[in-house]
Amino acid sequence: EKGGFDHFMLKEIFEQPITIADSLRGRLVIPESKIILSGVDAIQDKLMQARRIIIVACGTSWHAGLVAEYIIEELCRVNVEVEYASEFRYRNPIISEDDVIIAISQSGETADTLVALERAKAQGATIFGIVNVVGSSIARISHAGCYTHAGPEIGVASTKAYTAQLAVLMLFALKLAKVKGTISEERFQELSKELQEVPEKVEWVLKNEVDNIKAIAYKYKDAHDVLYLGRGYNFPTALEGALKLKEISYIHAEGYPAAEMKHGPIALVDDTLPVVFVASKDAYHEKIISNMQEIKARKGKVIAVVSQGDDMTQSIADDIMQVPAIDEVIAPILTVVPLQLLSYYIGVYRGLDVDKPRNLAKSVTVE
Ligand code: M6R
Repeated sequence: EKGGFDHFMLKEIFEQPITIADSLRGRLVIPESKIILSGVDAIQDKLMQARRIIIVACGTSWHAGLVAEYIIEELCRVNVEVEYASEFRYRNPIISEDDVIIAISQSGETADTLVALERAKAQGATIFGIVNVVGSSIARISHAGCYTHAGPEIGVASTKAYTAQLAVLMLFALKLAKVKGTISEERFQELSKELQEVPEKVEWVLKNEVDNIKAIAYKYKDAHDVLYLGRGYNFPTALEGALKLKEISYIHAEGYPAAEMKHGPIALVDDTLPVVFVASKDAYHEKIISNMQEIKARKGKVIAVVSQGDDMTQSIADDIMQVPAIDEVIAPILTVVPLQLLSYYIGVYRGLDVDKPRNLAKSVTVE
């Protein structure tokens, strides 16, 4: 049932070229320059009028929400807020009929997310669910939605469900931008093509980088703390990389926006601290390079996810994990893959049960 892989987690990481393609299939219709998402059509008027979009989720799904905030604000010019479901439900949030809530959940059964949605729905908000498990509670409570087509995810650590969520959120953003007229036809075409090419770029990483990532994992398997840094579209990926490492290897890890480093975390840097940079090429690239140099100057070890052919960044980092060049808006689906592999192999080298980390449940159905 593990299809020849040692663990479900590894199998699910390797399934991603297929699960991402499955989540795009029949929805991204490039020749017609069109995105078909009937759930969006169903609430189109609400979306057009919405004062803001509130994204509610937990854990890895919350990270997908953060990526979506950057993309939807950029492409659709609408205000987006991303909330931890647990915080949102216990305070007294101001919600009106003009709010659209996007709920993101792999299981569709996360208690905090579900209750947050019930409350918001009672106050008149429109609920759009992005859920993996068909017919789950969150799918049923939503007014409209769009399933991710990741297939069953068995490993407790979310991998293929996350990239499927990102694929669907990118389709959502592109479609809404088109309907609102906030994207040029040229940019729409460009991003559609980039999205279409993601499965083969993920495949490239899985074919070419695994041995290298294994060696990096072995080198850093005894670390006590690891810092993950990124800027812009790469910042949520830093958070997700850190969460994955914590869950699977029990190594303390923290994700930060790279520029926040100088406001505190830089005090941690010494020659024992590995710092993982999510540094694929984007508009902030020079800034991230200078952040790397700040770590090097304090003798920290730099591990970087870098774009193929970016010799400059590659020469600064101690260890590199390459990804094919990609537009910064679409990059989060790709740059997380080497980080999933890094966590997986560190967990394996530490002799841990990567599919069922201690204290964790696949679906958190209690408060
Ligand atoms: O099923 P959900 O997407 O609602 O679950 C949310 C979180 O519990 C989940 O993403 C959790 O953080 C994972 N263990 C992350 O790998």
